[in-house]
Amino acid sequence: MHVFDLLIIGGGPGGYLAAERAAAGGLKTALFEARALGGVCLNEGCVPSKTFLNSAKYYDHAQNGAAYGVTASNVTLDHAKVVERKNQVVKMLVSGVSAKMKGHKVTVVQAYAQITGQTPGGFTVTAGDDIYCAKKLMIATGSNPLIPPIPGVEKGIESGFVLTNREILDITALPKELVVIGGGVIGLEMAAYFRTAGSQVTVIETLDKIAGQTDTEISALLRKELEKKGVIFHLGAMVTEISTGEISYKKDGKTNKISAEKVLLSTGRQPKITGFGLESIGVYVEKGAIVTDELMRTNIPGVYAVGDVNGKYMLAHTAYREAEVAVNHMLGKRDYMRYTAISSIIYTSPEVASVGETEETAKARGLDVEVVRISMLYSGRYVAEVSGEEGICKLIVERTGRKLLGVHLLSPYASEIIYGAALMLEMHLSIDEIKELIFPHPTVGEVIREGLFLA
Ligand code: NAI
Repeated sequence: MHVFDLLIIGGGPGGYLAAERAAAGGLKTALFEARALGGVCLNEGCVPSKTFLNSAKYYDHAQNGAAYGVTASNVTLDHAKVVERKNQVVKMLVSGVSAKMKGHKVTVVQAYAQITGQTPGGFTVTAGDDIYCAKKLMIATGSNPLIPPIPGVEKGIESGFVLTNREILDITALPKELVVIGGGVIGLEMAAYFRTAGSQVTVIETLDKIAGQTDTEISALLRKELEKKGVIFHLGAMVTEISTGEISYKKDGKTNKISAEKVLLSTGRQPKITGFGLESIGVYVEKGAIVTDELMRTNIPGVYAVGDVNGKYMLAHTAYREAEVAVNHMLGKRDYMRYTAISSIIYTSPEVASVGETEETAKARGLDVEVVRISMLYSGRYVAEVSGEEGICKLIVERTGRKLLGVHLLSPYASEIIYGAALMLEMHLSIDEIKELIFPHPTVGEVIREGLFLA
């Protein structure tokens, strides 16, 4: 039996960051990962998709540079090369995580972990032929793609006709036609890449808008921009059957069929709570996710759950912070998890970045807010750099307290600007306080300050 202070199951952003922080804080830590360190984010999610989208950006700029005085001929995108580069990037970052674990003296166990119970000595976990025991246990098992009960879906996955986020990042040949089921974050990012790369792309979405919780006006503008690039959307549409080479969907009571070479299933993800003995220690689960408090504790003292598995915000950056909060609690440091200023980003071109209340959530919560809309054309840098695209900034301001409650951007660089807005929300700054801040000029982010003068 190997005795540790902390056992962490899952080596994604939540798990590996917790391991790093815990070991740095003096806890003897073991991290179990059956596949690759870095989890979905590094290996088949956030990072690899960004390599794809950056290649698409280069290709798009090279092809459409005429308005900027740049013309190029015989521009091609080699998808196999894009995948090759993605693999190199992933390899480099995964080995970086591995080096960090070594540097912090974390014991990484490359095996599937199974919780077997709780003894007076602590929680017991088996992995390979070994038994591990610790007083503290962290569940960071992440999530799996949600497979909706569409007739033919399982057969489609088996045959390789239907792909999830995992497989689509590894196909080396561009599909002639790609049908994307689900117009959420994964669906839109992949639709944007494959359309720019040359596939014919159709997105089928059950809701009447794309991009889920995104501000409705920004979601509509993003759809318009993606439509300009040639992505076809069927909204308010339900996929009813998948058969080889064909997808049937119902819209306005009528059944339609589209043929496709490949289908991407991006209909959401579900926390991974089964298959590793969670029930053996009685961790409380509700609506398919582990229930945690603001310290990331579960109902079982000593057991914490961070990242997608608690189903709160399925975002790597939330998992990072949750991991820190959990480890701080173990180390006796005061900290707690706050979910009010979590940025969310869609890395399409243009990008969407949001933080805080949207116009819709503020109204639904009965908050008295003022909504400021400002075109990105108010930013000198935006005008200097962008032609023929629509961009907008929306600010949600509390009418009485004059506090900033939400910032929503559709613009290049939005992903890199939004953390500044998150800081403003996190610090509960009033708009008068933010107005005293000097923003660099010329930048796209200045539009936030400009917008506050309209409130
Ligand atoms: P999602 O929840 O963002 O979107 C799924 C979409 O599929 C929804 O709009 C839903 O209405 C639609 N849908 C569900 N069933 C359907 C059906 N049968 N037919 C048609 N449409 C259907 O989920 P997604 O895109 O799979 O992403 C999973 C998670 O990964 C999310 O929590 C997301 O936040 C995270 N993620 C974050 C990224 C980022 O931060 N840039 C990038 C990629 C993923």
